[in-house]
Amino acid sequence: MSKYRIVLMPGDGIGEDVMEAARMVLETLDLDDEYIPADIGWRFWCTEGNPLPERTIDILKTCSCALFGAITSKPKNDANKELAPQLHNRGLTYRSPIVTLRQMFDLYTNLRPCKAYQGNPLNYRDDIDLVIFRENTEGLYSGVEFYPLPDEVREKLMQYSPSMGRFKDIPADEIAVSLRVITQNGARRIMRQAFEYARRFGYPTVTVVEKPNILRETSGLMIREARTVASDYSEIELWETNIDAQMMWLLKNPNNYGVLVTSNMFGDILSDLAAQLVGGLGFASSGNIGDNFAIFEPTHGSAPKYAGQHKVNPTAMLLTIKLMLDWLGERDKAQKLEGAIAGVIAEAKVRTYDMGGTNSTIDMAKAVAERL
Ligand code: IPM
Ligand code: MG
Repeated sequence: MSKYRIVLMPGDGIGEDVMEAARMVLETLDLDDEYIPADIGWRFWCTEGNPLPERTIDILKTCSCALFGAITSKPKNDANKELAPQLHNRGLTYRSPIVTLRQMFDLYTNLRPCKAYQGNPLNYRDDIDLVIFRENTEGLYSGVEFYPLPDEVREKLMQYSPSMGRFKDIPADEIAVSLRVITQNGARRIMRQAFEYARRFGYPTVTVVEKPNILRETSGLMIREARTVASDYSEIELWETNIDAQMMWLLKNPNNYGVLVTSNMFGDILSDLAAQLVGGLGFASSGNIGDNFAIFEPTHGSAPKYAGQHKVNPTAMLLTIKLMLDWLGERDKAQKLEGAIAGVIAEAKVRTYDMGGTNSTIDMAKAVAERL
């Protein structure tokens, strides 16, 4: 049996294109591995009423980790419309399969490095090296939501929170509630991961990005845990910022920051901004990491309009493989791969459309594979 069993889940749209690029590069890496394909995505919602079939979960449970392409998600009404006719009126609701997987496998760290590779014409500056730690299972993504708002829920909330009184007379179908749930354990473990990473890779600061002046309880808990964990890392400075100001400062002085750590929704927003600073979503890799399992995915979406055209930049996917190799403990191969990607970017011969070139997804993957 091979050392690693890696699930490949291309998903929707350009997920297939970038997975093809991934396979080319994986094949040249000479890992002792085997690949197991698995179904996920919008088409399985339409045909089976479930974008994350049980068979896929069974496969994931027997493997080392997974590589994921991209997923199409649509709002509630569209989701219902696109269901196969025989699946209508069965009370099925669409839920993002990647969010489900993050929670189901307790992949609590969402690791999103955003580094400027030299020679990338899309860099905002060339000295950016940010690493975002996004809590990946709680916060506003907890899935605790109400609409219409049941009377009992409203009454309980009014009983415990005077602020709820303002909403007491609003009709149930004119009010929606999404809860931001943060646990001490959830906050602590993401802080621990951020500090460990900063120590391992020599970052001098960890910035916790929250909004404790307004979200006194949930952000307050994040800050408390950040301070507790920070006390074990005397060589690393803890900076505390507010999410709104941090967005501004990241545009102003992105080179001032190293590791940033935050809750789920703030991390979602922050990581898109950070990605844009180093070339956009074509360069943004990510890992959903738990204690014993991980799913790696480029941060970009499924870009349906480019699906199957082999047009998009696969760099995000290739950097995602680099994260996967790191996680598997294959440091040498990870570094070689990153070097090859950086080399192709610096050489400027092969460029996809986002970088002003005319090369295809596959050309780019080939160039990286050749360097390897
Ligand atoms: C991301 C994406 C996802 C998220 C979507 C596709 C559910 O935006 O990974 O950043 O919101 O987490
Ligand atoms: Mg996002």
